[in-house]
Amino acid sequence: MIQLPGLIDPHVHLREPGATHKEDFDSGTSAALAGGVTIVLAMPNTKPPIFDADTLDLALNAAKQKARCDYGQYVGAGPDNSDWTSHKAESDRAAGLKMYLDSTFGELRLDDMTLWSPHFANWPKDLPIVAHSESRSMAAAILFAAIHDRPVHIAHISLKEEVLLIKAAKERGIKVTCEVCPHHLFLSKDDIPAISHGHPGRGEVRPRLATKEDVDALWKNMDVIDCFATDHAPHTISEKDSDNPPPGFPGLETFLPLILTAVHDGRLTMDDVIAKLHTNTKRIFNLPEQPATWVEVDENAQYEIKASEQFTRCNWTPFEGWKVRGRVRKVVLRGKTAFEDGKILAEPGYGKNIRFFN
Ligand code: DOR
Ligand code: ZN
Repeated sequence: MIQLPGLIDPHVHLREPGATHKEDFDSGTSAALAGGVTIVLAMPNTKPPIFDADTLDLALNAAKQKARCDYGQYVGAGPDNSDWTSHKAESDRAAGLKMYLDSTFGELRLDDMTLWSPHFANWPKDLPIVAHSESRSMAAAILFAAIHDRPVHIAHISLKEEVLLIKAAKERGIKVTCEVCPHHLFLSKDDIPAISHGHPGRGEVRPRLATKEDVDALWKNMDVIDCFATDHAPHTISEKDSDNPPPGFPGLETFLPLILTAVHDGRLTMDDVIAKLHTNTKRIFNLPEQPATWVEVDENAQYEIKASEQFTRCNWTPFEGWKVRGRVRKVVLRGKTAFEDGKILAEPGYGKNIRFFN
């Protein structure tokens, strides 16, 4: 048995408000605890999106009543809300500012670079800006960070050109950090037929699964990658198999076992795990210490991933049938056993907002 610090996932979609049949703060934070995750940072591309005081109230009230692990809530950068987001009373209650610079699920997207500037200029420098920006728009986001001399965190990098650009930017002292998702480390576009089971929508995710060469470049440049994040993006199996499949994979419950299997195979070290699932994430996102919090993991337990055993509402996983090593046995969160041997023991409402911790 090994003991790990509470894991942090800075990129989850909990679908509340607006699509709680896919997930809500209760089911999503249950999935988090089952995966050894004690802090989730929730994305703002909900319905409605979280981009003003009323919608932030809506999400935070739901979280306060329903979350079983600790959480933060991002606000979304819109075409005309930078005055609101930069009010200290508002930014202080957000996990960070999410900027959608490429198209994906939901309505939040900033097409025109003139709309980026007020956000880069006004968002507090000690709070993260997280950019969904792929390829060339990522290069532009890094340039904006350099011009404004402020940090930017690039979500879910997937390409060789991206990891190499971030490496070069870091070497020149630009304040850029990045995360990578397990699905971009363990799957390439060659795996789409196997994931799909005849339903091509199941392979849809943004950023798309990349080539083997891209996957290899991420592994080769592991030192450039600051943290791991799931981009847990639950959509139901019937939505995935429909004529208009939304992009996204669930990930909270497969996160740690996939990473620990890579440790077992000698592709990652336990130091990587602690740095990229806890220490670096905590620093980048300015997160508080969770006292008396740890995760007990049977690192040798071998088992098959099964969607039917998961707490997420979406009822599928692209990793169905994968044989992995490492099972979460127990999660202690702020002195209380929150998960043990397959059972969620923390009540809805036990979770705290990481921006109002003390
Ligand atoms: O595949 C994705 N799904 N990528 C995103 O950026 C959004 C996410 C979602 O919300 O479903
Ligand atoms: Zn996302």
